[in-house]
Amino acid sequence: MWSGKRDRSSMEDSADLTKLDQRSLWHPMLQHRGIEARMPRQIVSASGVFLEDANGQRLLDGVAGLWCVNVGYGREELAEVAREQMVRLPYLPLTFTHAPAAELAAKLTGMLGYAGKVYFTNSGSEANEAAFKVARQYHAQTGSPGRYKIIARYRGYHGNTLGALSATGQAERRVGYEPMAPGFLHIEAPDSFRNTQDCAALLERTIECEGPGTVAAFIMEPIIAGGGVLVPPDDYLPRVREICDRHGVLLILDEVVTGFGRTGASFAHRRAGVEPDLLTLGKGIASGYQPLAAMVAKQQVFEAFEGAPDELRHFRHINTYGGHPVATAVGLRNIEIFEREGLFEKAAKTGDALLARLRGLEDHPNVGEVRGRGLLLGIELVASDRSRDPLDAAQTAAVVARCAADGVIVGKTTNTTPGHSNIVILAPPLVLAEDEANLLASTLETSIREELSAKA
Ligand SMILES: Cc1ncc(COP(=O)(O)O)c(C=O)c1O
Repeated sequence: MWSGKRDRSSMEDSADLTKLDQRSLWHPMLQHRGIEARMPRQIVSASGVFLEDANGQRLLDGVAGLWCVNVGYGREELAEVAREQMVRLPYLPLTFTHAPAAELAAKLTGMLGYAGKVYFTNSGSEANEAAFKVARQYHAQTGSPGRYKIIARYRGYHGNTLGALSATGQAERRVGYEPMAPGFLHIEAPDSFRNTQDCAALLERTIECEGPGTVAAFIMEPIIAGGGVLVPPDDYLPRVREICDRHGVLLILDEVVTGFGRTGASFAHRRAGVEPDLLTLGKGIASGYQPLAAMVAKQQVFEAFEGAPDELRHFRHINTYGGHPVATAVGLRNIEIFEREGLFEKAAKTGDALLARLRGLEDHPNVGEVRGRGLLLGIELVASDRSRDPLDAAQTAAVVARCAADGVIVGKTTNTTPGHSNIVILAPPLVLAEDEANLLASTLETSIREELSAKA
């Protein structure tokens, strides 16, 4: 692994870079007015689970970038693979074929354990867009052209493009961009802390009320990630599968976050023993070293697209970079690293220990629930343990800011459900070592106890 030593010149350049940034760069999710006073931190290098900023401060990245750098930073072999591939064949559309894409597709179906076809995209949003189009076209070509609706869930996140955003159940993300695409509707998702509804029964009721002949697919994250790390009861996913089957509705599982070891398993749905009709993957597929994502269709779904060339039954969807040789070569090697280093098992073990330790925080009056699976953990903060009202956004932000000041980056929900900016999120690289997990936990514990103690 790369040592993480930084080029000295980067420190000197930092003031110039701030000027360039302020003049020309538009950051995601950021109010730019007043940005001078709270410039995003400049990171110059990274190694293992640590980032290093322009002032030489090391920060433990408790959220693996955007929950994607599963193998950790500084993997020289991924850089080597990318270099070799760029020299040999830097680009090829998948109207041709090349070894990295075919090998990675075969690797993925092998990991999934069922026959299917892999369609590569550049982002999780695009993978979901592809899944929605496949779902609608599948029904159109199997005798149910009236099935077009996509049922999704409140608090779920499926991406930023207009279709994926239409499936996203987080009101604030849609403000100003509406109207959304027609045909998307939402139901409640299980929430172990706040919602005792039978959410699988709710899905069946919704399908019946909408008219099963109009519903194309149900999309869900096996564990809602950005919406607050919501772990459903064990019987939820198997029941969802049965309900979808009973009503001819395709099940799309969005494993963009939960895939590739994040929950301590290759894919979160394998634990439930169900198979999706369509599966979307991203993030950990190339550990963020390249932009890569994928949609996997079960063979039976794919077969509905077979026909004569002029019948227009094939999937008429193309993107310039989907299945990029460099991205897929890196993705393939990234999976080799997971296997060689047993990183899924490691994530399960580290995650169990971290969860057990952090559950000790539940005796704090501002900690409502600590939950999660593998290295995807959520700490739900409350105004008081009696009211269970969500802790206000500013106090939650203070916990996150204190962690950052103490050298540990943790995430939190934004206003995904109105009033619920109160869930601290951890999703570190899967390589997190025991002492690093202890540092992450102790920093968060100190932050919660010291930042919130006066207000308990
Ligand atoms: C569950 C889920 N699906 C889809 C996406 C969209 O992926 P991308 O940002 O690569 O478009 C995300 C991104 O965070 C996600 O969390």
